Amino acid sequence: MAIPDEAPVLRIEEALARALDGDAGAVARLEHADTSVAFRAPGQDGAVLLLDRVPTLIPAEDEPAEIEILFTAEQARRFVVGALPLTAAIVSGQVRAEGPVRKYLEVDPILRKLLGEGHAGSEYDGRSDAPEERITEAIDPALLAIETRDLHKSFGSNHILQGLNLAIPEGAISVILGPSGTGKSVCLQHVIGIMKPDAGDVLIRGRALSSMSRAEILGLRRTIGVMFQDGALFSAQNVYENVAFPLRQHTDFAESEIRQIVMEHLESVGLANAGSRMPNELSGGMRKRAGLARALALNPGIVLCDEPDSGLDPVRTALLGDLLVERHAEHGGTMVVVTHNIMLARSIADHISVVWRGKVLEAGMTEQILQSDTPFIEQFLSGAAHGPLTMDA
Ligand SMILES: Nc1ncnc2c1ncn2[C@@H]1O[C@H](COP(=O)(O)OP(=O)(O)O)[C@@H](O)[C@H]1O
Ligand SMILES: [Mg+2]
Repeated sequence: MAIPDEAPVLRIEEALARALDGDAGAVARLEHADTSVAFRAPGQDGAVLLLDRVPTLIPAEDEPAEIEILFTAEQARRFVVGALPLTAAIVSGQVRAEGPVRKYLEVDPILRKLLGEGHAGSEYDGRSDAPEERITEAIDPALLAIETRDLHKSFGSNHILQGLNLAIPEGAISVILGPSGTGKSVCLQHVIGIMKPDAGDVLIRGRALSSMSRAEILGLRRTIGVMFQDGALFSAQNVYENVAFPLRQHTDFAESEIRQIVMEHLESVGLANAGSRMPNELSGGMRKRAGLARALALNPGIVLCDEPDSGLDPVRTALLGDLLVERHAEHGGTMVVVTHNIMLARSIADHISVVWRGKVLEAGMTEQILQSDTPFIEQFLSGAAHGPLTMDA
Protein backbone atom coordinates (compact mmCIF):
# COMPACT_ATOMS: atom_id res chain seq x y z
CA MET A 1 0.00 0.00 0.00
CA ALA A 2 1.42 3.37 -0.98
CA ILE A 3 1.08 6.39 1.25
CA PRO A 4 -1.30 8.91 -0.33
CA ASP A 5 0.53 11.92 -1.77
CA GLU A 6 -1.31 14.31 0.49
CA ALA A 7 -0.18 12.45 3.64
CA PRO A 8 1.70 14.81 5.95
CA VAL A 9 5.43 14.44 5.57
CA LEU A 10 7.25 14.12 8.83
CA ARG A 11 10.91 14.92 8.76
CA ILE A 12 13.21 12.13 9.94
CA GLU A 13 14.62 14.19 12.78
CA GLU A 14 11.17 15.17 14.05
CA ALA A 15 9.89 11.58 13.88
CA LEU A 16 12.92 10.19 15.72
CA ALA A 17 12.64 12.88 18.39
CA ARG A 18 9.02 11.85 18.99
CA ALA A 19 9.98 8.18 19.07
CA LEU A 20 12.63 8.85 21.74
CA ASP A 21 9.95 10.58 23.73
CA GLY A 22 7.87 7.40 23.78
CA ASP A 23 7.76 4.43 26.14
CA ALA A 24 10.86 4.83 28.32
CA GLY A 25 11.47 1.10 28.68
CA ALA A 26 11.45 0.60 24.93
CA VAL A 27 13.72 3.60 24.39
CA ALA A 28 16.19 2.21 26.93
CA ARG A 29 16.24 -1.10 25.08
CA LEU A 30 17.53 0.66 21.96
CA GLU A 31 20.88 0.83 23.70
CA HIS A 32 21.39 -2.89 22.98
CA ALA A 33 22.56 -1.87 19.53
CA ASP A 34 25.53 0.02 21.00
CA THR A 35 26.29 1.96 17.82
CA SER A 36 25.45 5.20 16.02
CA VAL A 37 23.22 5.40 12.96
CA ALA A 38 22.70 8.20 10.46
CA PHE A 39 19.33 8.13 8.70
CA ARG A 40 19.35 10.32 5.59
CA ALA A 41 17.01 11.05 2.71
CA PRO A 42 17.10 13.39 -0.31
CA GLY A 43 16.05 16.92 0.50
CA GLN A 44 16.71 16.71 4.23
CA ASP A 45 19.70 16.41 6.51
CA GLY A 46 18.29 13.46 8.36
CA ALA A 47 19.54 12.71 11.83
CA VAL A 48 22.06 10.67 13.74
CA LEU A 49 20.87 8.40 16.51
CA LEU A 50 23.41 7.53 19.18
CA LEU A 51 22.47 4.14 20.51
CA ASP A 52 24.46 3.74 23.64
CA ARG A 53 23.79 4.16 27.33
CA VAL A 54 21.24 6.90 26.81
CA PRO A 55 19.82 6.85 23.26
CA THR A 56 20.17 10.39 21.93
CA LEU A 57 19.47 12.25 18.73
CA ILE A 58 21.87 14.74 17.19
CA PRO A 59 21.55 16.78 13.99
CA ALA A 60 23.09 14.90 11.10
CA GLU A 61 24.78 17.66 9.20
CA ASP A 62 28.22 16.27 8.43
CA GLU A 63 28.08 14.19 11.57
CA PRO A 64 29.84 10.88 11.04
CA ALA A 65 28.07 7.78 12.29
CA GLU A 66 29.19 4.18 12.45
CA ILE A 67 26.24 3.12 10.27
CA GLU A 68 24.74 5.07 7.36
CA ILE A 69 21.23 4.35 6.12
CA LEU A 70 20.19 6.10 2.94
CA PHE A 71 16.51 6.29 2.07
CA THR A 72 14.72 7.41 -1.05
CA ALA A 73 12.09 10.06 -0.32
CA GLU A 74 9.33 7.40 -0.46
CA GLN A 75 11.25 5.08 1.89
CA ALA A 76 11.78 7.94 4.34
CA ARG A 77 8.04 8.57 4.36
CA ARG A 78 7.40 4.96 5.32
CA PHE A 79 10.23 4.88 7.83
CA VAL A 80 8.99 7.86 9.84
CA VAL A 81 5.60 6.22 10.45
CA GLY A 82 7.13 2.90 11.47
CA ALA A 83 6.08 1.16 8.27
CA LEU A 84 9.45 0.19 6.81
CA PRO A 85 10.86 -3.06 8.21
CA LEU A 86 14.55 -2.46 7.58
CA THR A 87 15.73 -6.05 7.78
CA ALA A 88 13.63 -6.96 4.75
CA ALA A 89 14.42 -3.72 2.94
CA ILE A 90 18.20 -3.96 3.44
CA VAL A 91 18.42 -7.72 2.86
CA SER A 92 16.64 -7.25 -0.47
CA GLY A 93 18.88 -4.36 -1.47
CA GLN A 94 16.03 -1.84 -1.60
CA VAL A 95 17.52 0.39 1.09
CA ARG A 96 21.19 1.31 0.90
CA ALA A 97 23.11 0.88 4.13
CA GLU A 98 26.78 0.98 5.06
CA GLY A 99 28.77 0.01 8.13
CA PRO A 100 28.05 -2.77 10.64
CA VAL A 101 24.33 -2.64 9.88
CA ARG A 102 23.49 -5.87 11.74
CA LYS A 103 24.08 -4.06 15.05
CA TYR A 104 21.31 -1.61 14.25
CA LEU A 105 18.95 -4.30 12.92
CA GLU A 106 18.91 -5.86 16.40
CA VAL A 107 16.83 -2.93 17.61
CA ASP A 108 15.00 -2.01 14.40
CA PRO A 109 11.74 -3.71 15.53
CA ILE A 110 11.80 -1.65 18.74
CA LEU A 111 12.42 1.64 16.95
CA ARG A 112 9.80 0.81 14.34
CA LYS A 113 7.20 0.28 17.04
CA LEU A 114 8.15 3.57 18.72
CA LEU A 115 7.93 5.41 15.39
CA GLY A 116 4.51 3.88 14.71
CA GLU A 117 3.22 4.84 18.15
CA GLY A 118 4.61 8.38 17.88
CA HIS A 119 2.58 8.66 14.74
CA ALA A 120 -0.80 7.66 16.18
CA GLY A 121 -3.71 9.48 14.60
CA SER A 122 -2.32 9.32 11.10
CA GLU A 123 -4.48 8.25 8.17
CA TYR A 124 -1.84 5.72 7.30
CA ASP A 125 -2.62 2.20 8.54
CA GLY A 126 1.01 1.30 9.19
CA ARG A 127 1.11 -1.79 6.99
CA SER A 128 4.25 -2.16 4.99
CA ASP A 129 4.37 -2.53 1.24
CA ALA A 130 5.32 -5.80 -0.37
CA PRO A 131 8.90 -5.73 -1.62
CA GLU A 132 9.25 -4.04 -4.97
CA GLU A 133 11.09 -6.97 -6.45
CA ARG A 134 11.73 -10.62 -5.75
CA ILE A 135 14.81 -11.33 -3.72
CA THR A 136 17.01 -13.95 -5.24
CA GLU A 137 20.48 -13.21 -3.94
CA ALA A 138 22.01 -14.68 -0.81
CA ILE A 139 21.89 -12.42 2.22
CA ASP A 140 25.07 -10.50 2.98
CA PRO A 141 26.72 -12.55 5.78
CA ALA A 142 27.30 -9.34 7.74
CA LEU A 143 23.52 -9.02 8.20
CA LEU A 144 23.04 -12.49 9.64
CA ALA A 145 22.27 -13.36 13.25
CA ILE A 146 22.68 -17.10 12.68
CA GLU A 147 24.34 -18.99 9.90
CA THR A 148 24.93 -22.71 9.46
CA ARG A 149 27.50 -23.67 6.86
CA ASP A 150 27.22 -27.06 5.24
CA LEU A 151 26.16 -28.70 8.49
CA HIS A 152 26.20 -32.51 8.58
CA LYS A 153 25.00 -34.77 11.38
CA SER A 154 24.34 -38.50 11.45
CA PHE A 155 23.02 -40.78 14.16
CA GLY A 156 24.36 -44.21 13.23
CA SER A 157 23.37 -44.75 9.62
CA ASN A 158 20.72 -42.01 9.85
CA HIS A 159 22.06 -39.00 7.96
CA ILE A 160 19.87 -36.25 9.47
CA LEU A 161 21.54 -32.95 8.53
CA GLN A 162 22.80 -33.29 4.98
CA GLY A 163 24.60 -30.04 4.33
CA LEU A 164 22.26 -27.57 6.01
CA ASN A 165 22.89 -23.94 5.01
CA LEU A 166 20.71 -21.68 7.09
CA ALA A 167 20.98 -17.90 6.87
CA ILE A 168 18.87 -16.10 9.47
CA PRO A 169 18.83 -12.29 9.13
CA GLU A 170 19.15 -10.05 12.19
CA GLY A 171 16.16 -8.15 13.51
CA ALA A 172 13.41 -10.31 12.05
CA ILE A 173 11.12 -13.21 12.89
CA SER A 174 12.43 -16.16 10.92
CA VAL A 175 10.43 -19.33 10.53
CA ILE A 176 12.14 -22.63 9.84
CA LEU A 177 9.38 -24.54 8.12
CA GLY A 178 9.52 -28.24 7.45
CA PRO A 179 7.74 -31.55 8.04
CA SER A 180 8.35 -33.65 11.17
CA GLY A 181 11.53 -35.63 11.38
CA THR A 182 13.53 -33.42 8.99
CA GLY A 183 16.05 -32.41 11.64
CA LYS A 184 14.69 -29.05 12.77
CA SER A 185 15.18 -29.71 16.48
CA VAL A 186 18.57 -31.27 15.80
CA CYS A 187 19.49 -28.07 13.97
CA LEU A 188 18.50 -25.90 16.95
CA GLN A 189 20.63 -28.05 19.24
CA HIS A 190 23.60 -27.31 17.00
CA VAL A 191 22.84 -23.58 17.10
CA ILE A 192 23.07 -23.52 20.89
CA GLY A 193 26.13 -25.74 20.89
CA ILE A 194 24.53 -28.69 22.69
CA MET A 195 25.26 -30.92 19.70
CA LYS A 196 28.47 -30.88 17.68
CA PRO A 197 28.27 -31.31 13.91
CA ASP A 198 30.08 -34.13 12.09
CA ALA A 199 31.08 -31.48 9.55
CA GLY A 200 30.35 -27.81 8.91
CA ASP A 201 30.00 -24.94 11.32
CA VAL A 202 27.52 -22.65 13.07
CA LEU A 203 28.13 -18.89 13.19
CA ILE A 204 26.35 -16.70 15.70
CA ARG A 205 26.58 -13.03 14.76
CA GLY A 206 29.67 -13.84 12.72
CA ARG A 207 31.48 -15.94 15.32
CA ALA A 208 32.10 -19.61 14.60
CA LEU A 209 31.13 -21.99 17.38
CA SER A 210 34.00 -24.28 16.36
CA SER A 211 36.46 -21.53 17.31
CA MET A 212 34.95 -20.97 20.78
CA SER A 213 36.09 -22.43 24.06
CA ARG A 214 33.61 -24.23 26.30
CA ALA A 215 33.40 -21.15 28.49
CA GLU A 216 32.67 -18.96 25.48
CA ILE A 217 29.90 -21.29 24.33
CA LEU A 218 28.37 -21.18 27.82
CA GLY A 219 28.56 -17.37 27.71
CA LEU A 220 26.92 -17.39 24.29
CA ARG A 221 24.02 -19.48 25.60
CA ARG A 222 23.16 -16.68 27.97
CA THR A 223 22.42 -14.52 24.95
CA ILE A 224 20.15 -17.12 23.34
CA GLY A 225 16.74 -17.85 24.87
CA VAL A 226 15.13 -21.17 24.04
CA MET A 227 11.47 -22.10 24.22
CA PHE A 228 11.57 -25.88 24.00
CA GLN A 229 9.07 -27.95 22.08
CA ASP A 230 7.15 -29.26 25.09
CA GLY A 231 7.64 -26.15 27.21
CA ALA A 232 10.19 -28.22 29.17
CA LEU A 233 9.22 -26.63 32.47
CA PHE A 234 10.70 -28.12 35.63
CA SER A 235 7.76 -30.09 36.94
CA ALA A 236 8.76 -29.80 40.60
CA GLN A 237 8.91 -26.00 40.50
CA ASN A 238 6.07 -23.53 40.19
CA VAL A 239 5.77 -21.13 37.26
CA TYR A 240 7.46 -18.29 39.11
CA GLU A 241 10.51 -20.42 39.95
CA ASN A 242 10.68 -21.72 36.38
CA VAL A 243 10.93 -18.20 35.00
CA ALA A 244 13.35 -17.14 37.76
CA PHE A 245 15.63 -20.09 37.03
CA PRO A 246 17.79 -18.53 34.28
CA LEU A 247 18.15 -15.35 36.36
CA ARG A 248 19.33 -17.31 39.38
CA GLN A 249 21.68 -19.36 37.22
CA HIS A 250 23.24 -16.57 35.18
CA THR A 251 23.02 -13.40 37.27
CA ASP A 252 23.67 -12.32 40.84
CA PHE A 253 20.55 -10.15 40.97
CA ALA A 254 19.02 -9.57 44.38
CA GLU A 255 15.74 -11.33 45.14
CA SER A 256 13.79 -8.08 44.71
CA GLU A 257 15.22 -7.52 41.21
CA ILE A 258 14.47 -11.11 40.26
CA ARG A 259 10.89 -10.68 41.45
CA GLN A 260 10.45 -7.55 39.38
CA ILE A 261 11.82 -9.12 36.20
CA VAL A 262 9.89 -12.37 36.63
CA MET A 263 6.61 -10.53 37.27
CA GLU A 264 7.13 -8.29 34.22
CA HIS A 265 7.63 -11.31 32.02
CA LEU A 266 4.73 -13.25 33.50
CA GLU A 267 2.51 -10.25 32.97
CA SER A 268 3.67 -9.81 29.38
CA VAL A 269 2.57 -13.37 28.55
CA GLY A 270 -0.70 -13.10 30.44
CA LEU A 271 0.33 -15.22 33.44
CA ALA A 272 0.55 -12.54 36.12
CA ASN A 273 -1.72 -14.56 38.41
CA ALA A 274 -0.31 -17.99 37.66
CA GLY A 275 3.11 -17.70 39.35
CA SER A 276 2.30 -20.08 42.17
CA ARG A 277 0.78 -22.78 39.97
CA MET A 278 2.65 -25.98 39.24
CA PRO A 279 3.25 -26.91 35.56
CA ASN A 280 0.81 -29.85 35.72
CA GLU A 281 -1.92 -27.41 36.77
CA LEU A 282 -1.57 -25.40 33.56
CA SER A 283 -3.32 -25.76 30.21
CA GLY A 284 -1.15 -26.48 27.15
CA GLY A 285 -1.29 -22.86 26.04
CA MET A 286 -0.31 -21.61 29.49
CA ARG A 287 2.66 -23.98 29.59
CA LYS A 288 3.86 -22.59 26.26
CA ARG A 289 3.53 -19.04 27.53
CA ALA A 290 5.43 -19.89 30.70
CA GLY A 291 8.14 -21.43 28.52
CA LEU A 292 8.25 -18.23 26.47
CA ALA A 293 8.52 -16.07 29.62
CA ARG A 294 11.45 -18.22 30.76
CA ALA A 295 13.13 -17.99 27.35
CA LEU A 296 12.86 -14.18 27.49
CA ALA A 297 13.89 -13.76 31.13
CA LEU A 298 17.49 -12.78 30.41
CA ASN A 299 16.47 -10.44 27.59
CA PRO A 300 18.35 -12.49 25.01
CA GLY A 301 19.22 -11.04 21.61
CA ILE A 302 18.25 -14.31 19.95
CA VAL A 303 15.17 -16.37 20.86
CA LEU A 304 14.60 -19.86 19.49
CA CYS A 305 11.09 -21.34 19.70
CA ASP A 306 10.79 -25.01 18.84
CA GLU A 307 7.28 -25.86 17.61
CA PRO A 308 5.56 -23.33 19.89
CA ASP A 309 2.24 -24.41 18.38
CA SER A 310 2.52 -28.16 18.94
CA GLY A 311 -0.53 -29.51 20.74
CA LEU A 312 -2.46 -26.22 20.50
CA ASP A 313 -5.76 -25.78 18.71
CA PRO A 314 -5.90 -23.26 15.82
CA VAL A 315 -7.31 -20.43 17.95
CA ARG A 316 -4.65 -20.81 20.65
CA THR A 317 -1.99 -21.14 17.97
CA ALA A 318 -3.11 -17.84 16.45
CA LEU A 319 -3.07 -16.16 19.87
CA LEU A 320 0.40 -17.51 20.60
CA GLY A 321 1.54 -16.25 17.19
CA ASP A 322 0.26 -12.76 18.06
CA LEU A 323 2.11 -12.95 21.36
CA LEU A 324 5.38 -13.88 19.62
CA VAL A 325 5.03 -10.94 17.22
CA GLU A 326 4.24 -8.60 20.10
CA ARG A 327 7.20 -9.81 22.19
CA HIS A 328 9.51 -9.40 19.20
CA ALA A 329 8.33 -5.85 18.51
CA GLU A 330 8.88 -5.06 22.16
CA HIS A 331 12.31 -6.62 22.58
CA GLY A 332 13.82 -6.55 19.10
CA GLY A 333 16.57 -9.00 18.26
CA THR A 334 16.10 -12.13 16.22
CA MET A 335 13.35 -14.66 16.78
CA VAL A 336 13.56 -18.08 15.17
CA VAL A 337 10.38 -20.13 15.16
CA VAL A 338 10.52 -23.78 14.12
CA THR A 339 7.24 -25.23 12.93
CA HIS A 340 5.48 -27.39 10.36
CA ASN A 341 2.46 -25.10 10.57
CA ILE A 342 2.14 -23.04 7.41
CA MET A 343 -0.66 -20.91 8.85
CA LEU A 344 1.57 -19.87 11.72
CA ALA A 345 4.43 -19.16 9.32
CA ARG A 346 2.18 -17.01 7.13
CA SER A 347 0.98 -14.96 10.05
CA ILE A 348 4.23 -14.27 11.89
CA ALA A 349 7.22 -14.72 9.57
CA ASP A 350 9.31 -11.95 8.07
CA HIS A 351 11.66 -14.58 6.66
CA ILE A 352 11.14 -18.28 5.93
CA SER A 353 13.59 -21.15 5.44
CA VAL A 354 11.96 -24.27 4.06
CA VAL A 355 13.81 -27.34 5.33
CA TRP A 356 13.40 -30.85 4.00
CA ARG A 357 15.51 -33.94 4.61
CA GLY A 358 18.24 -32.02 6.38
CA LYS A 359 18.70 -29.34 3.74
CA VAL A 360 17.38 -25.84 3.14
CA LEU A 361 15.22 -26.15 0.06
CA GLU A 362 14.44 -22.49 -0.31
CA ALA A 363 14.80 -19.39 1.87
CA GLY A 364 13.84 -15.78 1.56
CA MET A 365 11.65 -13.01 2.85
CA THR A 366 8.10 -14.26 3.38
CA GLU A 367 6.47 -12.69 0.30
CA GLN A 368 9.02 -14.38 -1.92
CA ILE A 369 8.61 -17.81 -0.38
CA LEU A 370 4.83 -17.65 -0.46
CA GLN A 371 5.02 -16.98 -4.20
CA SER A 372 7.36 -19.88 -4.73
CA ASP A 373 6.53 -22.27 -7.54
CA THR A 374 8.78 -25.19 -6.65
CA PRO A 375 6.56 -28.31 -6.39
CA PHE A 376 7.50 -29.15 -2.81
CA ILE A 377 6.77 -25.67 -1.54
CA GLU A 378 3.51 -25.44 -3.48
CA GLN A 379 2.43 -28.74 -1.96
CA PHE A 380 3.48 -27.76 1.50
CA LEU A 381 1.85 -24.34 1.32
CA SER A 382 -1.42 -25.72 0.03
CA GLY A 383 -1.43 -28.74 2.34
CA ALA A 384 -2.02 -31.03 -0.66
CA ALA A 385 -1.66 -34.79 -0.31
CA HIS A 386 -0.15 -35.24 -3.79
CA GLY A 387 3.36 -34.07 -4.54
CA PRO A 388 6.98 -34.84 -3.71
CA LEU A 389 6.26 -34.93 0.03
CA THR A 390 4.95 -38.36 1.08
CA MET A 391 4.31 -40.03 4.40
CA ASP A 392 7.78 -41.54 4.45
CA ALA A 393 9.57 -38.33 3.37
N1 LIG B 1 19.99 -37.67 20.03
C1 LIG B 1 19.54 -38.39 19.00
N2 LIG B 1 19.97 -39.65 18.77
C2 LIG B 1 19.53 -40.36 17.71
N3 LIG B 1 18.66 -39.89 16.81
C3 LIG B 1 18.19 -38.66 16.97
C4 LIG B 1 18.60 -37.84 18.06
N4 LIG B 1 17.98 -36.63 17.96
C5 LIG B 1 17.21 -36.71 16.84
N5 LIG B 1 17.34 -37.91 16.24
C6 LIG B 1 16.66 -38.32 15.00
O1 LIG B 1 16.83 -37.31 14.03
C7 LIG B 1 15.68 -37.17 13.22
C8 LIG B 1 15.27 -35.72 13.16
O2 LIG B 1 14.80 -35.34 14.43
P1 LIG B 1 14.29 -33.89 14.80
O3 LIG B 1 15.35 -32.89 14.60
O4 LIG B 1 13.74 -34.01 16.16
O5 LIG B 1 13.13 -33.66 13.72
P2 LIG B 1 12.10 -32.43 13.66
O6 LIG B 1 12.38 -31.53 14.80
O7 LIG B 1 12.32 -31.80 12.32
O8 LIG B 1 10.74 -33.04 13.73
C9 LIG B 1 14.63 -38.10 13.80
O9 LIG B 1 14.56 -39.24 12.99
C10 LIG B 1 15.15 -38.41 15.18
O10 LIG B 1 14.76 -39.69 15.56
MG1 LIG C 1 11.30 -31.06 16.49
